[in-house]
Amino acid sequence: MATHTQPMLRDGALNEKVVFITGGGTGLGKAMGHYFLSLGAKLVITGRRLEVLEKTAEEWKSEGFEDVLPVACDVRHYDQVAASVAAAITKFGKVDVLLNNAAGNFISPTERLSPNAFDAVIDIVLKGTKNCTLALGKHWIANKETNKNILNIVTTYAWTGSSFVVPSAMAKAGVLAMTRSLAVEWAKYGIRSNAIAPGPFPTKGAWDRLMPGDLAEQLDSIKQVPLRRVGEKQELANLAAYLISDYAAYMNGEVITIDGGEWLQDAGQFNFLDVVTPEQWDMLEMMTRNAGKK
Ligand code: HXC
Ligand code: NAP
Repeated sequence: MATHTQPMLRDGALNEKVVFITGGGTGLGKAMGHYFLSLGAKLVITGRRLEVLEKTAEEWKSEGFEDVLPVACDVRHYDQVAASVAAAITKFGKVDVLLNNAAGNFISPTERLSPNAFDAVIDIVLKGTKNCTLALGKHWIANKETNKNILNIVTTYAWTGSSFVVPSAMAKAGVLAMTRSLAVEWAKYGIRSNAIAPGPFPTKGAWDRLMPGDLAEQLDSIKQVPLRRVGEKQELANLAAYLISDYAAYMNGEVITIDGGEWLQDAGQFNFLDVVTPEQWDMLEMMTRNAGKK
């Protein structure tokens, strides 16, 4: 029987595709990259810490995946991005997919943030995504390369906004706007743009900064998710692999939420009635049926 923790696409679904993943050495970028490799892709993984990237590449090599290029690159600096795109092309001859996954984030009341703290997050998420998208987009368009695509990892507060992560919310909203804008503008060049908005998928990077200590248990954060569980990396990887594959050739400008229903939990006006017991419902039904009869 199929389950959400199993690989979903068929073998070879990403054969010959070269995928450039920002933040590919850790967390969700690493999980997605690993699955892409198993489907036949070649990878360029970037991040600021070369040792982390090399360790990930070594791990994969020991499993028999040789086609991985780790490149140190701070996405905030266009010259470093351009150099890593050049290194990718030298190694693999082309790049087919850009996965904008790198991010910076931490919880804080906004009034406690220094201007530099605000910039640290916005520069990684918004400026970094812009830098990678512009560098690869220019390259593809100048060389008339087609059948390319960009996948951006955002979050549901890109459209709801969120307290205590305001720089991240602002930056992810900008990334979502870019996704939808370029889906139209660059379609004529054979470049698709899509996004995924994950809900909670525990990773060290995110949890150390968003749920430090025992905050998750203290606040019983799982209660925020109607399906009462966090995401499994494989189910995110399945969705990402589909979106970057040629099976998704008609998917363009979409943002797909994968969050167990989390963002809608507090959005529906009567969702709070979930706590009403069957006995209370009996009483309430009597009352609502009698409404207007007096
Ligand atoms: C207040 C803080 C702070 C904190 C840093 N700063 N941490 N301010 N509270 N917790 C301030 C610093 O004092 C400094 O300002 C400024 O921010 C820059 O800090 P640096 O440490 O010099 O920056 P840098 O080394 O560039 O690190 C960037 C970072 C860091 C964002 C601060 O956390 C990082 O490297 N993150 C990368 C990985 C990451 O965040 N992963 C989680 C993604 S999770 P001053 O004024 O003192 O100079 C995610 C999930 C979204 O995005 C959705 C969840 C559902
Ligand atoms: P993570 O492991 O901390 O991943 C962030 C990655 O970005 C790291 O590999 C980091 O590597 C890289 N990075 C940070 N700043 C960079 C910079 N300036 N230049 C290049 N790379 C940089 O966290 P994650 O949970 O896997 O997050 C991955 C993505 O999922 C992010 O876009 C995040 O917003 C999104 N997301 C996560 C969740 C979740 O629940 N985990 C939910 C919604 C959305 P270096 O530090 O070595 O640079």
